Parts: sequence; structure tokens; C-alpha cells
Amino acid sequence: MSTRHFLSLFDLTADEYRALFERAGQLQTARERGERPDTLSRRVLGMIFEKASTRTRLSFESGMAQLGGSAIFLSPRDTQLGRGEPIEDSARVMSRMVDAIMIRANDHGMLETFAENSRVPVINALTDRSHPCQLLADIYTYQRHRGSIAGKRVAWVGDGFNMCHSYINAARMFDFELTVAAPCGYEPDTEIVEAAGDRVRLVETAAEAVQGADLVVTDVWASMGQEEERQRRLRDFHGYQINADLMGRAQQDALFMHCLPAHRGEEVTADVIDGSQSVVWDEAEARMYTQQALVEFLMLGEFPGATTA
Ligand code: CP
Ligand code: NVA
Repeated sequence: MSTRHFLSLFDLTADEYRALFERAGQLQTARERGERPDTLSRRVLGMIFEKASTRTRLSFESGMAQLGGSAIFLSPRDTQLGRGEPIEDSARVMSRMVDAIMIRANDHGMLETFAENSRVPVINALTDRSHPCQLLADIYTYQRHRGSIAGKRVAWVGDGFNMCHSYINAARMFDFELTVAAPCGYEPDTEIVEAAGDRVRLVETAAEAVQGADLVVTDVWASMGQEEERQRRLRDFHGYQINADLMGRAQQDALFMHCLPAHRGEEVTADVIDGSQSVVWDEAEARMYTQQALVEFLMLGEFPGATTA
């Protein structure tokens, strides 16, 4: 059988997602009870980070250690990858020494090239195109707070970049209605939008997007690698801030999510992100359980303990 990768949300089936979320719930319960399952004993995850990270690194590294395995942090600065060793060669070598590899890459093409040459599963831990691991956490968190997200209305307000793309793909995969409000010039990739058909609708204003929404989501206005555009972006994104007025247009029990890190006073006000509708801390914690379930599946070929697949 060919190696399974997790490069986009379309790499798992609906049944596998059901099992993944069930398993993630079991892992969360186990941790809360102080139990220490060791399903990944002696398994090793390689972690290539071309960009900074707090949540992704910690959730994978701690997640591996908690299940009896280990993780190796590989910065291009300290490996031959940063000195021009071909991605193909690096993939061939690294994948002979670890059980799976997660990559946070500047360029999505690097991730794909690596995966094509890897003997072991490769996981997309954010690229300039998408951030599917974050969506595992977001969908799981929504489910735990409000039940199934299928048929719900989700508003994306802000940059039509990697996180937005993954929300569009998630709308297809998890069957919700997504409305996107991005400033002119910052709309999501047309191909990704078109592939989503009637699952996604682009609107001009943040108010239109949020009207009646069950979930409101945003992201930073200047992503990693866009620091030099920051001043221009601050001007261009004026009017796309999630504040209490805007949240007032959503359903009364609407949730607020943000993948973090957040900039209070820019894409979201402090009263919203620190307020009662915000579930951002549960969302961040969920990275660990959902990725543990994902890594178990990719390394072991099953979701241990799950009854749904
Ligand atoms: N949300 C997220 O991926 O956070 P980090 O950049 O800290 O990993
Ligand atoms: N869009 C952000 C997400 C960070 C998790 C970035 O790419 O920097």
C-alpha cells in the first residue's frame, strides 16, 4: 500500500475523521484522568520548521512524548536542508530514520516534493497554501462545544490566505456553509474557492459575513513572511476587525475562534478574544489531541480504541 500523507484535508475520508475525533476525545479524557497510554512507544516523529511556531511544535512534541514516543526538531538552519541539500535527497534520507515527518514550509511545493520522496507519512504543519492541522483542532473544538458543524454557518473575516483556504476545504469536507469577507486584493485563491462550489460564498463586508453565523473566525492580518507588508495591511484591513458590534450580528450562541497568535486591537478586539464566546484556549489545546490521533493513524494504520472506523 502506498504511504498515506496528510498534506490537505482531503487526505482523510469522512469515516476516518469521525474516528479521529472520537480518538482525540479519548486521548483528552485519558489525559484529564492522568492516564498515560503508550501507543507510540519508541516511535519517532521528525519535525522540520522553516518558520516559527509555538503551538504546532509543542503540540506535536509533547503529544509524541505523552504517548511514549519522541520528536526531533529539525531547523533548516542546523541541517543540510538550509545549506542547499536537495529536498528529494533530504526526504529519502530522513524518511529512513523516523516514522513520520511533519513540515512547516514557506512554500507548499517543498512539502509536496518532500512527500513524493518520503517512505513515511508527511504531515502539513502549515504552508503558504494551507494549515489543515489547525482545522482538525477547530472542528473538534466546535463539536465539543456545540455538536456537529454540518449545516452550520461559519464566517471567515480577514485574509484569504492559508487558514482561509483550509476553512474553504473544511466547508467541503465537513459540510458547513462558509461566508468569506476579505478586503479587495486579499481574496482566497480562485481555484480553491471554485472547487468548493456552493459551500462557500464571498461577500464584501465583514457585517454581511457574520450575519447569523454560528462560528466567527479570523487570523492575523500579516502572516509569517509578510512582516514587511504590515503597515500597508493595517490600512487595507481597516473594517475587517472582529469586535463586539460585529459579534452582535452573529447568532447569540456563536463561538469565536482564532488559530493564534493573535494581535489584540488589530484583527480582533480584546473583549471578543477574551470574552465568553471565545474558545481559543480550548482550540489551542485541541491541537494536541487531534494531532496525536492523526499521528497514531499515520504511524499505526488505525485509531486505537475508536469504534467508528
Ligand atoms: N496556530 C498555530 O499554528 O500556531 P503556531 O504558529 O504557534 O504553531
Ligand atoms: N496565517 C498565519 C497562521 C499562523 C498559525 C501565518 O501563516 O503566519
